[in-house]
Amino acid sequence: MPSNNPDLILECSGNTLAPQLVYREGTTAGHGGKGDKQMLLIGKLHPLVLHFPIGLVLAAAAAELAAILTGRESWRAVSVANARAGGALAVVTAIAGWALTSAPFVEPSRLLEWHRWIGVAGATAALAAAVVSTRLRAPSRHWLVLYQAGLFGAAALIAVAGHLGAKMVWGADFLRP
Ligand code: HEM
Repeated sequence: MPSNNPDLILECSGNTLAPQLVYREGTTAGHGGKGDKQMLLIGKLHPLVLHFPIGLVLAAAAAELAAILTGRESWRAVSVANARAGGALAVVTAIAGWALTSAPFVEPSRLLEWHRWIGVAGATAALAAAVVSTRLRAPSRHWLVLYQAGLFGAAALIAVAGHLGAKMVWGADFLRP
């Protein structure tokens, strides 16, 4: 008997091999409890929010590079605003990604583990950079160096995590024409 609570699955349809998120009637063995459904609901946010930390943290790093090269403080203000928003949304993205692993269509794999831990490291570095950005008005250069290290580290880690996530969903050849 079909359930009223559809599970989310990835499926190829039509004449395209591109996977799509679709709803399926019924539940999978081992899934379907209230806790599972709440986790899946949070997990469904992952594809929605993941674009924000990628865009915001990379924009923050680019603006910080412009601040270093030009010496203009207005670039630093752009960098800090993007780093704070990006740090907050990177944490939301990592939590949602973690919850998404309880979805029935997500297969455990080495690639998923690399994605998980690089994503967590990127979100932690982005959050640290956002916190350190509140100390940039202090006279010591120490905080600025710490901010730049956290931010550039976060940008690299989040870019790699995004690449690995896309590789999991779209396959290893997704960048090839
Ligand atoms: C800032 C950190 C993260 C970023 C930028 C990120 C990015 C991505 C991207 C780009 C995708 C592919 C989405 C698509 O093309 O539809 C993806 C999928 C996914 N991510 Fe993340 N992610 C992050 C953190 C995490 C974490 C910490 C986990 C925990 C395990 C996680 C679990 C997943 C899962 C389960 C999928 C779907 C895989 C599948 O359907 O086979 N992500 N992520």
